[in-house]
Amino acid sequence: MEFVTYEVQDRVGIITINREKALNALNSQVLDELNEAFDGVDQGEIRCLILTGAGEKSFVAGADIGEMSNLTKAEGEAFGKKGNDLFRKIETFPIPVIAAVNGFALGGGCEISMSCDIRICSETAVFGQPEVGLGITPGFGGTQRLARLVSPGMAKQLIYTARNIKADEAYRIGLVNQVVKAEVNEAGEVTVSAKDALMAAALKMAKGIAANAPIAVRNCKKAINDGLQTDMDKAIVIEEKLFGDCFETEDQKAGMANFLEKDKEKKLKVVPFKNK
Ligand code: CAA
Repeated sequence: MEFVTYEVQDRVGIITINREKALNALNSQVLDELNEAFDGVDQGEIRCLILTGAGEKSFVAGADIGEMSNLTKAEGEAFGKKGNDLFRKIETFPIPVIAAVNGFALGGGCEISMSCDIRICSETAVFGQPEVGLGITPGFGGTQRLARLVSPGMAKQLIYTARNIKADEAYRIGLVNQVVKAEVNEAGEVTVSAKDALMAAALKMAKGIAANAPIAVRNCKKAINDGLQTDMDKAIVIEEKLFGDCFETEDQKAGMANFLEKDKEKKLKVVPFKNK
């Protein structure tokens, strides 16, 4: 693949959008390659994914404006569907996906981060939906996910004004879970860059998730996602089924046996989790 790289560290997969010259903007090829990268993830082996952008400056600076500039109405709609199909695949991917937002997350960049389960960002990150300034609406789920993630009023304000916000404001409104700062020594010199600190924090979180029972983690993702789409009476039934599904698994048996043995050493041991 030309614009997407994939590497594995322990049981964590790292997908990097690597089109740095265009600030990792999403053209059709990048969308196709991302699709391919997600399809290629070994779901038996990998327990958490990190999605990030190459370089220090940008996570994703949006959908490719050059590619969109001459689209017809029908082509515009088809381009929106292409992005939406991929982002929905990410949102419903069985394994948790952490967006490590290392800079600009504008338009389609903010939108792809919102299709991930968790967003953590560097202190240099900038979020926004600048589309109305370009004469279009957000087209890769921004009108839907931003309103659900923050609040309808805040989403409308950000989208109508096309105002970019910095990491601290994104944190304040609940768009990101964590902001990671560069490490600085007593002399004020940067010892760990914001990007490196971000990736270390993302990996730490991902490895923490990967150490837990994979069936339980996947079922939690499904329960939360599916439950949010329906009313509470149906939502708790979804939870009951996914809760029940965890029983009789090796993880459930070993996890509970470890606790009941009351052996402090053993209790703290990581259960050798299996998928079945
Ligand atoms: N599409 C295509 N190319 C882009 C791009 C985009 N979204 N964003 C940046 N680039 C390219 C620039 O054209 C430039 O290329 P050249 O070197 O060949 O000229 C390169 O990346 C570097 O960009 P800048 O020179 O502009 O860098 P800067 O530091 O001066 O500014 C920026 C950075 C503020 C992010 C600015 O690039 C910018 O505003 N980019 C566009 C952001 C945007 O509007 N995104 C929304 C797109 S619409 C969308 O996403 C629709 C949707 O919902 C599906």
